Amino acid sequence: MSDIERPGISRKVVIVGSGDVGASFAYALLQSGSAECIVLVDSRKELAEGQALDLAHGLPFVPTTIVRAGSPDDYDDATVVVITAGSRQKPGESRLDLLKRNASIAGQIVEVIKAHESPAIVVVASNPVDVLTFIALKQTGWPRNRIFGSGTVLDSARFRHLLSQHCGVDARNVHAYILGEHGDSEVAAWSMTNLAGMAMDDYCPACRKCGDWSKERNRIVQEVRDSAYHIIEAKGSTCYAIGLALVRIVEAVLRNEHSIMTVSTLLEGEYGLKDVCLSVPCIVSKSGVERVIEGKLSDEELQALKDSASIIKESSRLLSA
Ligand SMILES: NC(=O)c1ccc[n+]([C@@H]2O[C@H](COP(=O)([O-])OP(=O)(O)OC[C@H]3O[C@@H](n4cnc5c(N)ncnc54)[C@H](O)[C@@H]3O)[C@@H](O)[C@H]2O)c1
Repeated sequence: MSDIERPGISRKVVIVGSGDVGASFAYALLQSGSAECIVLVDSRKELAEGQALDLAHGLPFVPTTIVRAGSPDDYDDATVVVITAGSRQKPGESRLDLLKRNASIAGQIVEVIKAHESPAIVVVASNPVDVLTFIALKQTGWPRNRIFGSGTVLDSARFRHLLSQHCGVDARNVHAYILGEHGDSEVAAWSMTNLAGMAMDDYCPACRKCGDWSKERNRIVQEVRDSAYHIIEAKGSTCYAIGLALVRIVEAVLRNEHSIMTVSTLLEGEYGLKDVCLSVPCIVSKSGVERVIEGKLSDEELQALKDSASIIKESSRLLSA
């Protein structure tokens, strides 16, 4: 039975872009059982259809879910739309050319979502995620809560994973955030990091397992920053961890969880910044970004966040030049 035949469908997630990221996200979301209906959309219709059919063949093994390929008409009653559509850099193409192409794709998609009077919360995952989130907000004129980016949720997960390995502690017990750009200028917020209620600088001497912590700190930050480059060099793209990160983000919306996550949101004066989308801790609920949390950062971290904001703003400026 299709969802059209079932009245009152809720928890409908439309994924725009059925490539590596879109399909990995759909696969993880299907297993979570969090969505009632998953719809895959792609400009290559046959790709969306193939991915949906492949996923549908796993339905006997997962919580009851409708999964199918769809079209922009599915925006009409979507609960969440996740944008993973984009293109990869072509040989000889500059970063700015890629930026322009992806900006145009994201802009067109949100325009259609708006034209369909969709009630959905929109999550942008395509890169450069901070710039595309800003464009999507400007293009629709919607309030900041309704459109946000996956931002540094993935980078924060990488940070937590590396800290958990270093400390020999479950990654779920490591609270740590990467802020700013989802990219090279991202900022490790050490002053917001804690294990068992202790800041890392207090936890490490108490643990006494490692030698030179300051050296380790730098290694971990560098490894978080370089993660995507390493994976892309090895296998062409990153998709599984971002797929799982998107499940956490979308679950927070579908279940009205009020979870704290470093999503990319439009700042309106918080941290002394405005007119830029970047990642800071936010409360995510059924209304999207319900609140931006203005935590205390060291002077050095705050300056790094401002520098990161300038880099994102420069990309937006180049786009409109
Ligand atoms: N935010 C993050 O943490 C994160 C992590 C990994 C990848 N990404 C980004 O996600 C995006 C997708 O990556 P991928 O590896 O899945 O790429 P991919 O090339 O495998 O898939 C992209 C898909 O988008 C489709 N598409 C292009 N234009 C479209 C349009 N107008 N409407 C609908 N579909 C369209 C393409 O046909 C393609 O199937 C990239 O921009 C990538 O940089 C983000």
